[in-house]
Amino acid sequence: MIMADASGNIEPAQFGLDKPASQSATGLKGSAHYDWGMQDRLARIFDPKTRRTVMLAFDHGYIMGPTSGLERIDLSIVPLIEHADCIMCTRGVLRSCVPLRCNKPVALRCSAGSTVLTELNDECIGVGIEDALRLNASMMAVMVGIGGPHEAQTIRNLCQMVESGNRYGVPTLGVTAVGRELTRDARYLGFATRVLAENGAQVVKTYYCDDGFDTVVAGCPVPIVVAGGKKLPEREALELAYRAIDQGASGIDMGRNIFQAESPRAMIQAVRAVVHDNARAESAFEYYRDEMNG
Ligand code: R5P
Repeated sequence: MIMADASGNIEPAQFGLDKPASQSATGLKGSAHYDWGMQDRLARIFDPKTRRTVMLAFDHGYIMGPTSGLERIDLSIVPLIEHADCIMCTRGVLRSCVPLRCNKPVALRCSAGSTVLTELNDECIGVGIEDALRLNASMMAVMVGIGGPHEAQTIRNLCQMVESGNRYGVPTLGVTAVGRELTRDARYLGFATRVLAENGAQVVKTYYCDDGFDTVVAGCPVPIVVAGGKKLPEREALELAYRAIDQGASGIDMGRNIFQAESPRAMIQAVRAVVHDNARAESAFEYYRDEMNG
């Protein structure tokens, strides 16, 4: 008996026998064996053409309170979001200040536990996988204090988040800690980033260092994004971004050097020029000044 809807169909013939099947993947370092959901989330964060990202970080309040430039996120940050590839923030600010229309991938701050008033880096998992999924996070950020007094606990936090993230296809961003006792040289940063990747972080955030940053990148089997750190003159911040990208970083995860700039809008666009158009610091700075004045 012929089923009614099976009759009169066009015979399938477009099998493209002479063409190999496409092997599409994000092309990001270390990602070839990830599942589809994990790759999809990473592809939202990293521009598919350049395989790089500009992350706008404004999660500072979770340890620093109402930081300069973040007093009113609705006024200062929301207008910048359209220029970012990804935003990095806490769930509190995401729910209270970030409009749905922004529609950007979110790197959600998931570790918490101490502030600058007490002992930094004494953290636990503050946001679990369930709330991260409810918020449609594209990545979960966990601080890890390698070499610091909370090393063991913060590595456990990372492992716990990676475990849940792998179950549901959500990448984990391992964040190398800021700490007074920690030296930011290539030896330390190479050690810390490698430990985070070995423990399963799919992306690692760290700081730039002047000597040997290329070896930090080379020794880390997953993409590295570079934090800006304390506010620098705009020209210097663009130089830092340029050097980091030139030496292999896959993106910039910048906060204070954008939202504390004289013109945050011009600054984020200048950082984009460095990250996505390979602009050198000098021409990015000229672009910054033109945008600011123009
Ligand atoms: C610090 O609390 C956060 O992890 C920031 O997201 C990170 O340090 C990047 O911001 P900044 O460029 O201001 O260092």
